[in-house]
Amino acid sequence: MRILVSGGAGFIGSHTCVELLNQGYDVTLFDDFSNSSEEVVSKIKEITGKDLKCFKCDMKDKKALEKVFKKDKYDALIHFAGYKAVGESVAKPLMYYENNLFGSVNLFELCKKYEVNKIIFSSSATVYGLSENMPLKEDAPLSVTNPYGRTKLIIEGILEDMAKAEKQFSIVVLRYFNPIGAHESGLIGEDPNGIPNNLMPRLLDVVRGKAGCLMVYGGDYPTPDGTGVRDYIHVTDLAEGHICALRYAFSGFTGIDAFNLGCGRGVSVLELINTFEKVNNVKINYKIVDRRPGDVAENYADVSKAKSILGFTAEKTVEDMCRDSYRFCMKKENMK
Ligand code: WQD
Repeated sequence: MRILVSGGAGFIGSHTCVELLNQGYDVTLFDDFSNSSEEVVSKIKEITGKDLKCFKCDMKDKKALEKVFKKDKYDALIHFAGYKAVGESVAKPLMYYENNLFGSVNLFELCKKYEVNKIIFSSSATVYGLSENMPLKEDAPLSVTNPYGRTKLIIEGILEDMAKAEKQFSIVVLRYFNPIGAHESGLIGEDPNGIPNNLMPRLLDVVRGKAGCLMVYGGDYPTPDGTGVRDYIHVTDLAEGHICALRYAFSGFTGIDAFNLGCGRGVSVLELINTFEKVNNVKINYKIVDRRPGDVAENYADVSKAKSILGFTAEKTVEDMCRDSYRFCMKKENMK
């Protein structure tokens, strides 16, 4: 079975390609490498000992994208490609709408034309907006607070309309909570181009001396230690969640359905820092500062639907996430 992976050189895409290859799928990835590096493809081959096909392609260029679809018959698409920095999306909304929306419509039109009828879409817990009721279920109200999140919500809507109009599609929407960690080999991990937005890459910048101090955004939230609480999930578990979704898409299911992918428990910023220090025997210099606009106090998943229908349960611990993130960071530093 051959799977087409958009954005396959990215953080979650590359880890999913590793798991796909390890489980006997053939993989073709394409990426514009705007927020990833071409060397990730060789790392995927090194980790798995398997070959895969790779094309440099911008999904906004429909002619170039169609050439990828003409190369092979694909049994499914896993769609990761898209810009994903919340802060950048607020500053450059049109760039996000053009890339994420126009690119996705090009992709889905070609799926219809070339009968790629199974689609797994990389969505995000950000579609739940500023919800108060934890843990979050998939039927929680959807609302968005930034252009990035709005592109995810609009693409979910596009897929819903496609599933209504075209009965041949099996579409699984996966709403990630907070993916962190790295492959246990240390060869691939979260390696954003430019200035990172998320907690773990910024914490790692402090570890490797790229930043002097980690700013902890808010110490006065109504949470156990006053800092923000999130549902962190190991990227390798997240990759496995995509394989479970693929199996479900091939199980006879048609239409569209959405699933939370998380661990189902909240971890605070200070808890994450303390765990990171303990498992890696390092000290993180941090300072508690004002809250970041747009942040919620806590955000974690009800994971029962993915467990009962996809047969997916995250297995790795916060300790694993911190240990694997650190290993990737140090390997990268030592290779400089
Ligand atoms: C986590 C916690 C911050 C940075 C975002 C997107 C979401 C998804 C995951 C793509 C919060 C705190 C952070 C820092 C800090 N991305 N923090 N200092 O905001 O939960 O979710 O990334 O799908 O769509 O919204 O993740 O890692 O930015 O923040 O104290 O330098 O860490 O306040 O409590 P977030 P995050």
